[in-house]
Amino acid sequence: MRLKALLTQRFTAAMRSAGIPDDCSPMLALSGKPQFGDYQANGAMGAAKRMKANPRDLAANILQHLDLEGIAEKLEIAGPGFINIHLNKSFLATSLNHTKLDLLASEDQQTVVIDYSSPNLAKEMHVGHLRSTIIGDALARVLEYQGHSVKRQNHMGDWGTQFGMLIAELEEHLGEGEQAELALNDLELFYQQSKKHFDEDPDFADKARGYVVKLQSGDKHCRRLWQKFIKVSVAHSLEIYQQLNVGLLEAHIQPESAYNDSLEAVVDDLSNQGLAVDSDGAKVVFLPELADKKGNPSPMIVQKSGGGFLYATSDLAALLYRINELQANRILYFIDARQSLHMKQVFITGRKAKYVPQTVSLEHHSFGTMMGSDGRPFKTRSGGTVKLADLLLEAVQRAEKLVREKNSTLSEEQIKDVANKVGIGAVKYADLSITRTNDYIFDWESMLSFEGNTAPYLQYAYTRISSIFRKAEINPKTLSASINIIESQEKALALKLIQFEEVIDQVALDCYPHTLCTYLYELASAFMTFYEHCPVLKDSVAKEVQQSRLKLCALSSETLACGLDLLGIDVMEKM
Ligand code: ARG
Repeated sequence: MRLKALLTQRFTAAMRSAGIPDDCSPMLALSGKPQFGDYQANGAMGAAKRMKANPRDLAANILQHLDLEGIAEKLEIAGPGFINIHLNKSFLATSLNHTKLDLLASEDQQTVVIDYSSPNLAKEMHVGHLRSTIIGDALARVLEYQGHSVKRQNHMGDWGTQFGMLIAELEEHLGEGEQAELALNDLELFYQQSKKHFDEDPDFADKARGYVVKLQSGDKHCRRLWQKFIKVSVAHSLEIYQQLNVGLLEAHIQPESAYNDSLEAVVDDLSNQGLAVDSDGAKVVFLPELADKKGNPSPMIVQKSGGGFLYATSDLAALLYRINELQANRILYFIDARQSLHMKQVFITGRKAKYVPQTVSLEHHSFGTMMGSDGRPFKTRSGGTVKLADLLLEAVQRAEKLVREKNSTLSEEQIKDVANKVGIGAVKYADLSITRTNDYIFDWESMLSFEGNTAPYLQYAYTRISSIFRKAEINPKTLSASINIIESQEKALALKLIQFEEVIDQVALDCYPHTLCTYLYELASAFMTFYEHCPVLKDSVAKEVQQSRLKLCALSSETLACGLDLLGIDVMEKM
């Protein structure tokens, strides 16, 4: 059982025995400062208020009924009625000897669908896709680590009016004998070209419009062109995922077009249920739940007057697929905050139409925007969108320069490998380590710094530990020593190590990966402090003490590597 859960359980029992009402909770929290112990129970104040009792007296009463024998070495009442818990060193040591994740009981295992990345295929992937891709991927890893069955869904935008224009353009290129791969070598350029063509040439525009209709009605020629386009665009995304060390594969692509055949049925069903109504020839679901200030219900169009279906229609069809085919218990959407209204509309309609049972949780986990140092959305110098491929290339190049400055003993091959892990890790970590819902400023200097809450700092901490084992000529995996805690720095490190699973639980629950980043940063810092104060390999250190400290080192590096891996960031033995 997790430490915090164990303490909560014991405190709850004591509060009941002390006659405190059932709905008063012990409110366990980590202590802010070492002099306040390791954990604090802050529930006595709230309970006293409810019972009109003196909080310090009530705290004393709780302590009388509390059984933390062998777990805490000191309990004290502080201030208005906080209870400070100083954990027992040998309890921490014993618990550490089995920190491995207790596997989830099978009834707690869920099928979790995660909708993430989901770029539009009309254009090249740009920085706007970065956040969904890496935050979603971290959650997929965390939930899988916990033993859930994770279904990654890349809801790529491969349908809609833009594709008429794109395939009309492609047709012309192919007509001139060009190969599709070559014509689409730069998707961004190709998009701009065809857009210009569309805006300036009315004949071309007419053809493009006609192609949208033909494409949607299954015309062979248009479908073939479209497939050629999609193939190249998908390959481009898959390449980016690989560079980014993101676990999205071709098999996870379930694009908008996959739902074509069910869209009509969805609209018919919504109409039959009286949820979708005719409005100026279109079919619209009006939602009083999301009414504006004047009381006008929020409209969600599910079919245009010309018969075309919309983004919302595919999302409703996707919902049905995820519930009925994938058997989801929980569906997570990692999408920009700007789509919040859309998601609310889809969720409410999905519930009203009884597509989603009450037991299934629908969650839109939104995020803020990536900003440039000027405080505006991140752009190229000339104001264009930054291609993801260019950004990742620059990250690796910058990291390579740093690695070359720092270390001359690595081989050329090692330098490339380290540069790749540090560069990509830095970009990902900079994003993951800030509260997801905030905007953040993209800044090369700070993300690539070897100090502070950054990927390079954590990767460096990991290599420090590896070098200890190299020097000692010991394989950390075969270390059988047991831990004995003497110094306060050892205790602080041990406590951090024990909290790993608790932190993972939290991330899995609220989908804020920065909690894990903060934890790893604190863990690395606790390790550095420990290492400064507690010699490990010095001759003067007694054999038993040394073994115990080596074990703490091994657990630290294991936990760092595991935590970083859950964020999709690699470690290396040397840097
Ligand atoms: N393709 C959309 C975009 O780029 C994101 C799709 C997100 N997922 C979804 N089920 N709506 O904005």
